[in-house]
Amino acid sequence: METKIWFVDKQMNLSTSYEQVQQAAILLQQNEVVAFPTETVYGLGGNATSNIAVERIYEAKGRPSDNPLIVHIADKSQLHLLVEDIPAYAEKLMDAFWPGPLTLVLPVIQGTVSTKVTAGLSTIAVRIPEHPVALAIIKETSLPIAAPSANLSGKPSPTKADHVWKDLNGKIAGIVDGGETGVGLESTVVDCSEGIPVILRPGGITKEQLEEVVGIVKIDPALTKREEVPKSPGMKYTHYAPKAPLWLVDGSNEYLQSLVNKQQQKGKRVGVLTTDESFEQYKANVVLSCGTRSDLSTIANKLYSILREFDDSDVDIIFSEIFPLEGVGEAVMNRLEKAAGYQRVKE
Ligand code: TXA
Ligand code: MG
Repeated sequence: METKIWFVDKQMNLSTSYEQVQQAAILLQQNEVVAFPTETVYGLGGNATSNIAVERIYEAKGRPSDNPLIVHIADKSQLHLLVEDIPAYAEKLMDAFWPGPLTLVLPVIQGTVSTKVTAGLSTIAVRIPEHPVALAIIKETSLPIAAPSANLSGKPSPTKADHVWKDLNGKIAGIVDGGETGVGLESTVVDCSEGIPVILRPGGITKEQLEEVVGIVKIDPALTKREEVPKSPGMKYTHYAPKAPLWLVDGSNEYLQSLVNKQQQKGKRVGVLTTDESFEQYKANVVLSCGTRSDLSTIANKLYSILREFDDSDVDIIFSEIFPLEGVGEAVMNRLEKAAGYQRVKE
């Protein structure tokens, strides 16, 4: 299959961008799958009401079919066609954070979307993205659009169209290139099917932000204890894995450097994932900074792209610094832990 590419203006200001969006929307209406930017990561969109379109999404990504997809809508009027029994706290969360990087899991009205979207669950995950291009595409289709991250299953999520191209060229109908995404990590997934909201996946909106709006918010115990079975099916898979083994290092820069030296003595090419603060201090084959510790959102923004850079740099092993579990640091560490397959060394 030839994968079309459309270049669009991120803000949708150019009149040509609208034509490109129309072409992408027509393919989506024909149940083809098309990748487009959102404010978090690139999504691989397909008509959520069509079994064929949704099967195409799973197939292109090589994604296990028991891992349900997030449905993207352009405004709240579409929500009431999909879900029922919306608790008052969920309304508050929508008012505060939509459009934005927050996904709510709510009881689905059966028969409204393909059962492959929900993987047969009684709930559906929904969000309104905050990206002019994503919103324009969804509006143009007049459909609910299922869109997982537009990467091959197991690879870091794409934050640039080029990442999507590398993973899915030839497997999907098109890519709408709207430049780099904003947040860099996926949306926060919150289960709203019970009395209290429960974070199933940490992401762009932090626990602290949610609590400011609705008071108490729980975290799915599976996110902190590995032996628990996560409620969000996607959280049980190893994700975001770079090709080389990745180790998280809980210790000083000197300790991390000593680990690098040991590996180099064995003839290995070693990578170090660090921040602007320590970048100059390490001597390794490849040293990459993913942002500054003074603003963890910069780390979130570049993390996936840096993990992909390590893949292109042919290292045998990667050592990474760790980050405080504050604000978006929670989501950063969640993705890093998974990328590392939970491998950690302590000084
Ligand atoms: O930022 C994002 O959320 C991106 C962009 C493209 O919007 N999308 C994304 O989709 O990350 P995906 O498919 O890669 O992740 C969806 C997550 C998975 O962990 C999945 O298990 C969970 O949402 N999920 C979907 N439906 C669910 C449901 N009914 N109950 C619990 N978890 C659900
Ligand atoms: Mg994903």
